[in-house]
Amino acid sequence: MGHLLDPARTQALLGRSLLATHDWPVADLDALLAVAAELERLDRAGVHTDLLPNELAYAMFFDNSTRTKSAWAGAASRLGMHPVIVDGSSTQVSHGETAEETGAMLGMNAHALGVRHDLILGEGNSFMHDVLRGITDYLVASGDQRVVPVVNLQCDIDHPTQSLADLLWLREHFGGNPADALRGKRITMSWAYSPSYAKPLSVPQGVVSLLTRFGAHVTLAHPEGYDLLPEPMAWATQGAAESGGSFRVVHDMDEAFAGAHAVYPKSWGPLALMTERVAANRAGDSAAMKDIERRSLAQNALHRDWICDERRMALTANALYLHCLPADIGAEVSPGVMDRFRVAVAKEANKKVYVIMAMLAVAKVPHLAGRLAALQ
Ligand code: CP
Repeated sequence: MGHLLDPARTQALLGRSLLATHDWPVADLDALLAVAAELERLDRAGVHTDLLPNELAYAMFFDNSTRTKSAWAGAASRLGMHPVIVDGSSTQVSHGETAEETGAMLGMNAHALGVRHDLILGEGNSFMHDVLRGITDYLVASGDQRVVPVVNLQCDIDHPTQSLADLLWLREHFGGNPADALRGKRITMSWAYSPSYAKPLSVPQGVVSLLTRFGAHVTLAHPEGYDLLPEPMAWATQGAAESGGSFRVVHDMDEAFAGAHAVYPKSWGPLALMTERVAANRAGDSAAMKDIERRSLAQNALHRDWICDERRMALTANALYLHCLPADIGAEVSPGVMDRFRVAVAKEANKKVYVIMAMLAVAKVPHLAGRLAALQ
């Protein structure tokens, strides 16, 4: 049986871009995820959903990616679009073309635009807003009726297609009415040790600011010095107050794991050093950037005991292990825990293709609920 879609709520999402989940009311996120679940069901049933034939889904990545790139390509292809993915550093942005100009230039040819720009605090999300403004202004000025949504494929503040995929996966895992599936559940977002690189803050920020809006009791755990940005922290506090959930911060991984129903242990960089990177990057000072990275990893190494292992998992209420991947096995998570949850984290990752499909479809297909019903 299909997922019940609310035609009016779904129709209200036409033309929408996704730059942060915080910009979307809870009811709109529910409508988006209902579409994602229905698109997943249709895909698994082998039903073709080529609702946007001959359209170009263009994406720019200013950072590495395995999962999100393939999810973008898989989503666009399933909708009948042509996906094209370019390395952001190969565009004229690196020669000083502004984000607005870039948006206008890409928007005049494309039918949807994805952007990953996550490495430098203060830059990625504002770049995406400028790109969207460039596209919108061009379309209005040229009388072009096309809808060209911008989808945030990870910035400095949020990783919305990841956190929404995580939410979809948690809803499936906990079961029951999707809108209430997280209500009362204890979910821990924890820092974990990584020796590989100083990772962006956007995943933990996206997770705590989203899951608190659905009635979950969310714990954020990290060593001193690994704070998140104030804005998403405020969103998490506000989300918990409005949903009847709760939000707390602790500096002890065992305490955060005790009684948890789901745990999401992953690394991110120390806030002071991530902030120091802004000026070094702006000055194009690669020696300073290297030194900041070295000091970040040295600071991480003071907390090697922040690992998700079987001892810590035994403290939980038989918790589901989540990770956005790639995980540092042997550092963030023990090989045994990762082995036990290998299929689970792959299923979690697979949700992203349906979140992106849903995002493109709700933004671009009029009367989507009816169109999907007609595909049965
Ligand atoms: N989780 C995630 O965004 O994976 P990629 O960096 O491989 O896209």
